[in-house]
Amino acid sequence: MFLWVHYADMVIALVQLPVAVVAWWAATGRRDPSRTSVAAFTVLLGTAVLRLAAGVVLLRWGWEFAGPRLVWVVPALLVAATTYLAWRRPGRWSGGAGAVAGAAGTVSVAAMALLAGVGPAAAAGGAIIAASMLGYAYRRLPRRPAPARAGRWRAAVRAAAGVASVAAATVALSTASALPARSSMTGGAVDDGGGTAAGHRHPGGISVTELTGADSGDATVRRFTLTAQEATVRLDSGARVAAWTFDGVTPGPQLVVRHGDLVEVTLVNRLPGVGVTVHWHGVDVPNAMDGVAGVTQDAVAPGASFVYRFRASRAGTYWYHSHEMSSVQVRRGLFGALVVLPRDAPAQQDAVDETVLRHTWGDEDGVATLGLAAGVQRRSVPVGRPVRLRLVNTDGKPATFAVTGAPVRVVAIDGTDVHEPGVLPGARILVGGGARYDVEFTMPDAPVTLRADGPGIVYSPRGDAGPDRAAPEPALLDPARYGARTATPFAADSRFDRRFVLRVDERLGFYDGRPAVRYTLNGASFPDVPMLMVAGGDLVEVTYVNRSGQHHPMHLHGHHMLVLSRDGRATTGSPWWVDTLDVGPGETYRVAFRADNPGLWMDHCHDLEHAANGMILHLGYTGVTSPFLTGSGTPNHPE
Ligand code: C2O
Ligand code: CU
Repeated sequence: MFLWVHYADMVIALVQLPVAVVAWWAATGRRDPSRTSVAAFTVLLGTAVLRLAAGVVLLRWGWEFAGPRLVWVVPALLVAATTYLAWRRPGRWSGGAGAVAGAAGTVSVAAMALLAGVGPAAAAGGAIIAASMLGYAYRRLPRRPAPARAGRWRAAVRAAAGVASVAAATVALSTASALPARSSMTGGAVDDGGGTAAGHRHPGGISVTELTGADSGDATVRRFTLTAQEATVRLDSGARVAAWTFDGVTPGPQLVVRHGDLVEVTLVNRLPGVGVTVHWHGVDVPNAMDGVAGVTQDAVAPGASFVYRFRASRAGTYWYHSHEMSSVQVRRGLFGALVVLPRDAPAQQDAVDETVLRHTWGDEDGVATLGLAAGVQRRSVPVGRPVRLRLVNTDGKPATFAVTGAPVRVVAIDGTDVHEPGVLPGARILVGGGARYDVEFTMPDAPVTLRADGPGIVYSPRGDAGPDRAAPEPALLDPARYGARTATPFAADSRFDRRFVLRVDERLGFYDGRPAVRYTLNGASFPDVPMLMVAGGDLVEVTYVNRSGQHHPMHLHGHHMLVLSRDGRATTGSPWWVDTLDVGPGETYRVAFRADNPGLWMDHCHDLEHAANGMILHLGYTGVTSPFLTGSGTPNHPE
């Protein structure tokens, strides 16, 4: 329903734009009113009423959703169109064309601003249209009848002016969206969330490079090397993919460590001509080890290397991936799983523990695989064995994983154990982009099927069973209601030191000079989204409001967020901790976290295409600075 209203409204807005241009054109023409102008304004009036209705329906999702339409866009359209239709007789005003042009201008500007975003770029475009209309109205003021030839000349000028203003507006929007060649994460605007932001640029600050964490103490050190290199991999269909890999395989080598280990990974770059980094997705590493090009380090150049060191401070399922040109590099294969086992868990020699990474090759509509198999894989598991499946979605779009054939428990979400997970007859889980869900079952004397929106795996005692297509579809897991409540370090009624609201909108416009569908955060795109400023120790609340028609898996680096409520209703199950929260169309989530890991942290949509179109902001701690820069004039393009 939300999607329906949202996109209907958007389509109407798209229709309104050319109609508004026609209205302006006709209303400023020689004959005023003309039949065309009356028709165009009537269409604008009718469609504005439809959009008013859409706004009223959206009240069901809250004022955040309905407000911008009801307060600004629709009234502007209604007033302009009604004024024109009511007062369209020529001569009503002396030089009435000026007022008429003004009415038409309001409509065009309103429609345009809605489409392009109410930012400086839209304002510039609107100003150009408005100025050209005023100029035209002024030229009309002496109302002497013009000879026919002058009339034709005037029409030509008018046409040229119209085309020129549309072209100028387009160029203005496009150039205004160009990204700076070098930008610093600590140089821009900040949002202090109701606290004080002072000091994030003050001289004696600490650099991200110094935030390397405490020393190793007596921890066991686990060393790995990951070499980024090209490789041709084969999918089960026989298709060959020219991939970018860690160590020649994709998914990259699975790194398995124990809770408390000191992990030391040397990244070596053997890719031709491109930089690379490794980001430890979901692990709350010290900031200097976060692997974000241009924020916590420079991208590692071809031939160079970089050593990451961090403590595996929580047991759970994580993954790693490049955070340089991540929308391209992750898609091409630069990712793998990181599994942190509990410190003292008895070695369950015979337990099956399988990490299942779902990945789509090619573009968004490419081939979806588990590992490298797009088809159904078969595994043999003896009856009675405990099985743990670690489900990872490496794509941006959510994927539905379903396990049928055995009673299951969903034991962990984003690397955090679920408290007292109940036994379900089967599980169907919407795993958002970048998120992980761990599922356990005991192997029965019958096949168990895992399906992941296409590819699948069948576990059976002899490994020969096919998928059970007749299995009833399990109910969709609601993590807000699953498991049992238990104490949390803070809760919905805690006193928060900072509160932030991040509103996501969907806009057609330009990003970095290219036409793009932009998903803006509070109306802005990277690097213009104000940084969320916190001080060490703050308790921080963030509300995500998704007013767009797409899912946005919001990923905060370096912290785990406790989900407090969804659409205004408190969560009631096990504490639901996430590092990547899929916020669906029309949804509002309130989350909270403790600012206990100083640094500069990316907070972005893990639909990496969206991130590449600007859906990125940062969380900054007062006093933390970064020497690194992003942009075309630097080696760093984190998105
Ligand atoms: Cu998995 Cu900022 O990334
Ligand atoms: Cu997104």
